[in-house]
Amino acid sequence: MNKKIAVLSGDGIGPEIMMEALKVLRKIEDIFGHKFETVEGLIGGSAREKYGEHFPKETVSIAENSDAILFGSVGGPVDKQMEPKWRNCETNSILAIRKHFNFNVNLRPVKLYSALKSSCVLRSDIVENGIDMLCVRELSQDVYFGKHETSGEVGMRHAFDEMSYDEKVIEAIAHAAFKAAMLRRKKVTSVDKANVLSCSKLWREVVTGVAKTYPDCILEHVLVDNMSMQVIRRPGDFDVVLMPNMFGDIISDEVSVFAGSLGMLPSASLNEKGFGLYEPSSGSAPDIAGKGIANPIGQILSAAMMLKFSFGMNIEHDAILGAVEKTLVDGLRTGDIADGGKSVSTSEMGAKIVENLNRFSLLTGVGARASLGSP
Ligand code: IPM
Ligand code: MG
Repeated sequence: MNKKIAVLSGDGIGPEIMMEALKVLRKIEDIFGHKFETVEGLIGGSAREKYGEHFPKETVSIAENSDAILFGSVGGPVDKQMEPKWRNCETNSILAIRKHFNFNVNLRPVKLYSALKSSCVLRSDIVENGIDMLCVRELSQDVYFGKHETSGEVGMRHAFDEMSYDEKVIEAIAHAAFKAAMLRRKKVTSVDKANVLSCSKLWREVVTGVAKTYPDCILEHVLVDNMSMQVIRRPGDFDVVLMPNMFGDIISDEVSVFAGSLGMLPSASLNEKGFGLYEPSSGSAPDIAGKGIANPIGQILSAAMMLKFSFGMNIEHDAILGAVEKTLVDGLRTGDIADGGKSVSTSEMGAKIVENLNRFSLLTGVGARASLGSP
């Protein structure tokens, strides 16, 4: 298959971890006989420096002319947020690109690999049976995209953020959650604040209606405050967790630590046409940028999600997951998952994953060249 990928590495650790994901994609091309044309575009602080904008039209056009977007991360150091390069960088780049392509479905899988159980912040008896959940976050509405205003004189100022939801938008994300659940453990936990918010009351009603089309799935509703507690007490009980934009932002960060580190987690953002953007859940981590120590696994798994959701390459996706798991079993750890033990660099981790991919192809005979016996 021939596919065109827009590669938007962004800022901070983005370019370093992207480099490892691209090596993995090259290996996939080699094993399976695909051709991935990668076109690089600037976004975030690096784009602001060159074009005076965080999401310049050059990048818009690269993204529009691709089959999928592989995204790194954007944003600068906390103490430099007032500099033009970094001011509103996230809003002007990642939120702008989500809005531009109308990405409404955000998938954030959280899996605790057995090899990393000891890195999990939760007690061992709580994680004994493993953690494997999929956060399904609505990405196009909620308080994120309502009006934001601050008015009045200092001392008498007033701030206002508008939260709104359309029934159709809730319906669409609920279908996405149930469809995903049908391929998993058939359970959806819908998170809201229906004891207070009108948006949540509508959310609950619509989700309950959509659930009727999936009689094999169990639906439960949990209030967001309670959810933030339950998910720590009994993480293994959750399968698909369906959330509006704001609660999804918060809860998905909370559960991300269950995987051992934020650096382990991939994500996919999809629109109704099936076009997708794939990015790791970790941020640009400017404090460790350029040191070659960032964990590339979240970026590599994001590339794997791209293969599956945008290109329908399920075997290739599974091969990458297998190679990542094997690499962890082999004992390789970047600093964030090393528990103070020996750690490897970003590129050593990437190289080992590529090596394990190669080994996988030779062992299973999967893939064009591998089946001909070449290395
Ligand atoms: C995320 C991030 C973004 C969000 C920020 C960078 C605007 O936290 O993708 O979860 O809030 O959606
Ligand atoms: Mg977030």
